[in-house]
Amino acid sequence: MMENQEQQEFYPMPRIGDQAPDFTAMTTKGQIKFSDYAKDKWVVLFSHPADFTPVCTTEMSGFATRKKEFDELNTELVGLSIDSIHAHLGWVSNVKEKTGVYFDFPIIADLDMSVSKKYGMLQPNEAETAAVRAVFFIDPSKKIRLIMYYPLNVGRNMDEILRALKALQVSDSHKVALPLDWTPGQQVIVPPPKTLEEMEARNKETGIDRIDFYLSKKDLKL
Ligand code: BEZ
Repeated sequence: MMENQEQQEFYPMPRIGDQAPDFTAMTTKGQIKFSDYAKDKWVVLFSHPADFTPVCTTEMSGFATRKKEFDELNTELVGLSIDSIHAHLGWVSNVKEKTGVYFDFPIIADLDMSVSKKYGMLQPNEAETAAVRAVFFIDPSKKIRLIMYYPLNVGRNMDEILRALKALQVSDSHKVALPLDWTPGQQVIVPPPKTLEEMEARNKETGIDRIDFYLSKKDLKL
């Protein structure tokens, strides 16, 4: 544990709306240059603290067993940890042998921590040499759209990762907002009016559930 926060190296924290930092890295599926990778697709880029550890094994298995759902959402998975490619290969084959689950997506071997540092995955007061559990939702234009950070000792929730990804895509394609706990099939929020004219039009609109001019919901056929 470092004693003085001011003495710590400063790592930038990417923000929602930023272009995803570019990198070239070795993965379990060969070298990737991120800006050329998964063109026209969404990417869920996620880090885990270490190979051959229990929580990480459950999380990676969760991504692997639900990969088809990510495929259906036009989304590529990319994992990362600060381990060697040999550790990754050993872990992937060990999990396959012991459980039958195969991590069929690239996992970055970020031994020099260059990608972890660019993405703010290194949070020294939580762990100095391991990446925290970060998830970056990156759209096809390579813009960061949503970020999750979890500590070392709490695993992520795969339902929430998939729900958030679907919500981002529905929000983009239908120009709507999604309320608390939204899941596909539930009503969506119609963007509130921005002028008095739009407000008067909204008040006369039919086919929507209008609580007041600023809060209206409608059904959406997906
Ligand atoms: C785990 O995945 O179980 C784990 C990894 C690093 C620190 C603590 C837990």
